Amino acid sequence: MSAPLTAVVLGAGDMGARHARHWAAVGARVLAVVDPDMDRARAAAAETGATALAEADEALALGPDVVSVCTPTYLHARLTIAAFAAGAHVLCEKPIALTLGDARAMEAAAAAGRELRIGFMRRFDPAFPQLIEVAARVGRPLLAQATITAGIRPKRLMHDALANGGPIIDMCCHLFHLWGTVFESQPDEVAARGYTFSDGKPEVAHIRHRALDSALITLAYPNGSVGQVQVSWGLPSGVDPVERHTYVGPDGLVTVDWPGRITLRDGEGETRWTNPGDDPYRGQIAQFHAELTQGATRAVASVQDGIDTLRTSLAVLRSVATRGPVALADVTEDRDDDPAFAGLGDLDAPDAGAGPLLEAMP
Ligand SMILES: NC(=O)c1ccc[n+]([C@@H]2O[C@H](COP(=O)([O-])OP(=O)(O)OC[C@H]3O[C@@H](n4cnc5c(N)ncnc54)[C@H](O)[C@@H]3O)[C@@H](O)[C@H]2O)c1
Repeated sequence: MSAPLTAVVLGAGDMGARHARHWAAVGARVLAVVDPDMDRARAAAAETGATALAEADEALALGPDVVSVCTPTYLHARLTIAAFAAGAHVLCEKPIALTLGDARAMEAAAAAGRELRIGFMRRFDPAFPQLIEVAARVGRPLLAQATITAGIRPKRLMHDALANGGPIIDMCCHLFHLWGTVFESQPDEVAARGYTFSDGKPEVAHIRHRALDSALITLAYPNGSVGQVQVSWGLPSGVDPVERHTYVGPDGLVTVDWPGRITLRDGEGETRWTNPGDDPYRGQIAQFHAELTQGATRAVASVQDGIDTLRTSLAVLRSVATRGPVALADVTEDRDDDPAFAGLGDLDAPDAGAGPLLEAMP
């Protein structure tokens, strides 16, 4: 029997603890879980028999086959590049990064024969293929709408433009990735209005570079289809997350309560689908494990998927800043050069502060 794949997990928050658990469950040996918050590192390591460490370098020196990057987004590039320097494959959580420059540096650092994949785990949610199949049945052009809302996020880094980038980067990347498949293309133009509903709310008052928390976004696709997104993480704290979509085409209507229920209404009547509830995070890691150990066909999201979604998010932010439509083809620059980010300063210096930034999700 061949030796098990060895893994290191960087970041032991919600995502890191999941990655560690799932790597162990699919038969990998988790060598180390790293977090400067050693209580977190110890808790995630204890579940998997791994060593808890505070420094990534120490863990990468163990020579893992694969590294999961599960830190706040502004650290993804730095840690992915370090993991490649140590000779590992990388599964990096979504979104890939906050800037196209960082994303491209990550891509360039992947040595020959090393994989960089992005954690768009929704691909492994049974709702993902089901929605694609059902949306194909209502014809084209497709007119889509999505509403994604929640109260102010308890993890304050999610509201920091310099840390996780706010919902237009951090949350909409999931939808943009799904829609890339539903619409079979990337949008060629976006137009958006952005808002900070959290203005004046004490939970986020300490964040100097608060990200936009709300937007209405229109995405035009090259085949004539259109998607519209209403997104907010600026509702009062404690308001539960909601995600609903509708897809209208010449042959019918699809309504979605993501990820639980999908309903198709067409000439045949009404067809309802309920999610069996498979864990997409586990499915994603099982798939990557099979790709690395058995040469399974690639199915975990690619670095290009990460770049495509980030480019769309940056186009949205630019559209908000310029109050006009933005062609995706024009979004080629790092955000340092983008008017949407003028004056935001050093991307490596989020207002991390103490305490509340590290609070767990409810
Ligand atoms: N796939 C999804 O649906 C999904 C869901 C939530 C978050 N995410 C993404 O996953 C990433 C992590 O999010 P989270 O919710 O787990 O955040 P989290 O705050 O729960 O955990 C992040 C952890 O990283 C640690 N950390 C900070 N600097 C570090 C370093 N240099 N080395 C190692 N660890 C370090 C922090 O102490 C913290 O414990 C983010 O990029 C986020 O956007 C993805």
